Amino acid sequence: MRAIYDKMAPYYDRIIGVVERLLFADGRQWACTQATGRVLEVAIGTGRNLPWNPRDVELVGVDFSRKMLDAAQLLAEQLAWPVDLSVGDAQQLDFPDASFDTVVATLTLCSIPDERLAVQEMARVLRPGGRLILLDHVASPIRPVRAVQRLLDPLLVRFEGDHLLREPDAAVHDQGLVIDELSHSKWGIVACLAAHKPLQLLRPDASARGFV
Ligand SMILES: C[S@@+](CC[C@H](N)C(=O)[O-])C[C@H]1O[C@@H](n2cnc3c(N)ncnc32)[C@H](O)[C@@H]1O
Repeated sequence: MRAIYDKMAPYYDRIIGVVERLLFADGRQWACTQATGRVLEVAIGTGRNLPWNPRDVELVGVDFSRKMLDAAQLLAEQLAWPVDLSVGDAQQLDFPDASFDTVVATLTLCSIPDERLAVQEMARVLRPGGRLILLDHVASPIRPVRAVQRLLDPLLVRFEGDHLLREPDAAVHDQGLVIDELSHSKWGIVACLAAHKPLQLLRPDASARGFV
């Protein structure tokens, strides 16, 4: 993944700009304007969300690719915003438990090899009551669309490391987070998900979903 994104970094913004116009419309704005307090953006990439974040948040960003982060650093400097950026693996975040008020990840879980592990880490670093905001392309609930995704998935995984059949809502649910908002658009391919980490675990058995 690192090699793919290091190579893609110089032209990522151009490619993703087209994808955004086709699929994600105002998704970045939707995601980032919900961030409050100390915010972790996982796999921040070239920092395309930076302009949408409220200026009163304390923003920390991690990404696997140093080249993608270099672009994010440049943008942060242009915006005169001191964002704390570092190389890191979403599947093994280098932050203590309960250290963020909000975790944001856009177009991220589609790229991470083990997205369930990444969601587990996001849930771990969120404080109780903290919010997880996700925007991504996912497995469509519409069967013919999903069939096409199934056909294309092996190719995209192989050449771009991009997974078309991800189901982040299931991963979020399995971590005991409470999903507050989940909407699909663009033939079910695009998902916007907002969840929170419950304040209190009512039952110790996480599989029983006994959270509030
Ligand atoms: C499609 S880009 C999305 C970038 C950014 N989030 C956005 O919205 O434009 C995927 C990003 O995930 C990063 N990435 C992939 N696997 C990762 C991992 N295990 N840990 C951290 N970042 C990862 C890549 O380096 C790349 O920057």
